[in-house]
Amino acid sequence: MDEKARAQTASKSAAGFRAADMVEDEMVVGLGTGSTVFYMIERLSARIREGLKVSGIPTSYQTAIRAREYGIPLTTLDDYPIIDIAIDGADEVDPHLNLIKGRGAAHTREKCVASAAFRFVVVVDEQKVVPRLSAPVPVEVIPFAVRPAMSQLREFGCLPVIREGVKKDGPVITDNGNFIVDCTFSEIARPAELEDAIARIPGVVESGLFCGFAEKTTLIVGNEKKCRIITSADIVP
Ligand code: 5RP
Repeated sequence: MDEKARAQTASKSAAGFRAADMVEDEMVVGLGTGSTVFYMIERLSARIREGLKVSGIPTSYQTAIRAREYGIPLTTLDDYPIIDIAIDGADEVDPHLNLIKGRGAAHTREKCVASAAFRFVVVVDEQKVVPRLSAPVPVEVIPFAVRPAMSQLREFGCLPVIREGVKKDGPVITDNGNFIVDCTFSEIARPAELEDAIARIPGVVESGLFCGFAEKTTLIVGNEKKCRIITSADIVP
């Protein structure tokens, strides 16, 4: 592993561990998806072995499989429509705590779980913190409507591409049985407006823009030495 990759791994694990330490006894915890969340699961599992009592709601098959391997009891949004805390990663975060998520195609369930939570803890490394969102925006679309949805996405000024599988021919199929359309914009000037506009396209399930959770978000920016914590109180209007 080169120095940059080693530093990034250390930063992710620092953020994940810090988030797991925010979990309190008897909480219901939304378990996000991805490599940073993986460290949170590891630490939460250690705390459960030490006596912590929690249950988790996984946002993907990947997380459900990992959480079971790590001995985290699982539950569902059917049993707990409102939960204490959700902990998840992100692909980009801007200074207003708007996020782009969905590299792992799990953003629909991640948004449902974040929405159900009183508190949303986002774990990232420094490279994900950007002055302006610019990463491709993943959009989950039902296969039936993918062509007309892509035409409408194009009207917003982006280049939409159906995500292809790795070690699987053809499109990625999400945990919900849908396609992912990755939308590259030259700039995302008003992310909240874009999120609302994409949501109005028939056949769109969810986009990876998360612009409505800033008030309840705690951002943990992992660092090899010390984590930075950012909340809505730190947002400069
Ligand atoms: C999955 C996600 C992930 O949370 C996001 O891509 C961050 O992943 P990682 O921590 O591996 O960089 O949105 O859909």
